[in-house]
Amino acid sequence: MRIGLIGSGRIGSTVARLAIAQGHDVVLSNSRGPDSLADLVASLGPHASAATSTGAAAAGDIVVVTIPLRAVPDVPVEPLAGKVVIDTNNYYPQRDGHITALDSGETTSAELLAAHLGDARVVKAFNSIEASQLLNDGQPAGSPDRRALPIAGDDADAKKVVTELIDSFGYDVVDAGPLAEGRRFEPSTPASGARLTADSLRVALGP
Ligand SMILES: NC(=O)c1ccc[n+]([C@@H]2O[C@H](COP(=O)([O-])OP(=O)(O)OC[C@H]3O[C@@H](n4cnc5c(N)ncnc54)[C@H](OP(=O)(O)O)[C@@H]3O)[C@@H](O)[C@H]2O)c1
Repeated sequence: MRIGLIGSGRIGSTVARLAIAQGHDVVLSNSRGPDSLADLVASLGPHASAATSTGAAAAGDIVVVTIPLRAVPDVPVEPLAGKVVIDTNNYYPQRDGHITALDSGETTSAELLAAHLGDARVVKAFNSIEASQLLNDGQPAGSPDRRALPIAGDDADAKKVVTELIDSFGYDVVDAGPLAEGRRFEPSTPASGARLTADSLRVALGP
């Protein structure tokens, strides 16, 4: 499988590393252009390449959007139509500026991306774990106390694809429900940040 990355910072580069370890190809992108990613591509090896964000979006069977939330309006729309898109983004007003619809609780950060993209099948994932932990906390399926990560999304098939990817990275998956339920594992919730098993994550996500 080929995974496109829109954003190749701490989380993007970590997802890329984990994906390559599972035999996938990755196409990285950022805001400064492919040349600025040469060192990262070299460190990731022959299964990595770099493109523009439009190129990475077009290349990916799955595309991971992992950028500061304020940059969501820049994410290319047309090449992502119909695709499985993983949203790792969190809202930090001090970084992103205040977004009224999020401050009021009217919508969620993942729904903002989904609304921008229109036809993409957005699944919220990887937003509740710190990048260095994501790289190191994975364990084989069936390990006692295996860490679990939450997902949310409106498309069952897309959630299945993302669940299989996360499992291959070494984590159990707990489905928190439709995309709007992503609010249950946004920053400062009990389900965000802590190292939880599937059972304890279900409790943390709430009824
Ligand atoms: N760090 C974590 O542990 C962590 C954990 C969970 C969730 N998150 C969330 O995941 C997202 C990414 O976090 P991060 O820590 O990986 O961020 P980061 O290290 O700051 O990297 C951000 C990446 O986004 C790219 N970018 C910025 N604006 C862009 C645009 N308009 N178009 C394309 N790419 C753009 C940056 O490229 P340039 O450098 O070229 O600008 C950079 O590659 C954030 O929303 C963050 O809150 C982070």
